Amino acid sequence: MKHLTDIENISKEDILNIIATAREFKAGTKVSDVSTKTVALMFYENSTRTRCSFEIAAQKLKMNIINFDTEHSSISKGESLKDTIENLYFLGVNAVVIRHSYSGLINNVMKSVKYPVSFVNGGDGTHAHPTQALLDFYTMLEKINTVENKKIVIVGDISHSRVAKSNIALLTKFNADIHVCAPSYMNFKNFESFNVKYHQNIKEAIEGADVVMALRVQNERHEKEGYPDSSEYKRLYEIDTKLLKQYASKDVILMHPGPANRNIEVSSELLDNTLGNTILKQAQNGVYVRMAVLNTILKGGGYAS
Ligand code: CP
Repeated sequence: MKHLTDIENISKEDILNIIATAREFKAGTKVSDVSTKTVALMFYENSTRTRCSFEIAAQKLKMNIINFDTEHSSISKGESLKDTIENLYFLGVNAVVIRHSYSGLINNVMKSVKYPVSFVNGGDGTHAHPTQALLDFYTMLEKINTVENKKIVIVGDISHSRVAKSNIALLTKFNADIHVCAPSYMNFKNFESFNVKYHQNIKEAIEGADVVMALRVQNERHEKEGYPDSSEYKRLYEIDTKLLKQYASKDVILMHPGPANRNIEVSSELLDNTLGNTILKQAQNGVYVRMAVLNTILKGGGYAS
């Protein structure tokens, strides 16, 4: 495994190896195999959790880190991302972590780059966010041991969500019982092609759920697409403690990739109570999972510049 651009492109074995390595890093029983390597963090779209946790992960691995300044790089003079990355390779960069608003860009650039740089997708448009799915899986395993046949309900802005797509790809590999819940205008256009059950009614969706994963309502995309404003969404889909206690399994875990819109997709009181704490654990686990990803793709002799 030399790249991580999509969950679809990696095997169950790769995923379980990353989880096992992340556990060792979290327990402090593993040391870095990649302390001589250099990673460039190229974030063309805003981020708190993904960018900072990759940076902390690389620091813990004792790697060299380039925080690539996307605003002041020579891309502003017309240089392509392919040429930029090939130059970075010759400067000594072994891996690039890219976040971009353009869906599919990372796979396209990876195919065009002629030198052996490892690519990690830090979230591209509405396409994929594989390290988020891995850290979500890690967190679920910590809390409920297995996802097989567990009812996992993803609620909210499914159509725009790279997190939903990568989670569904991963959870399908591990035989989870996957449900999505959204108003029709937020559902996948082609939801039949995903291995999920679709609900419009939140109470029906979360009945007996083991995991409820809320998604951020992506307001910045809605105005352009003529969606109703988020007060309509809040009225029908906001998750609060009462709703979870009444309908979900008694040991339900609440997840959210962040950033959360308080009192839109999840109530503020729920975010601040013990159930909401899992969301912060997701962010924390992101450090160990991203350490495991960087260590896995860069260890050994392959792809050294
Ligand atoms: N979950 C997530 O990708 O958060 P950031 O946008 O803050 O990185």
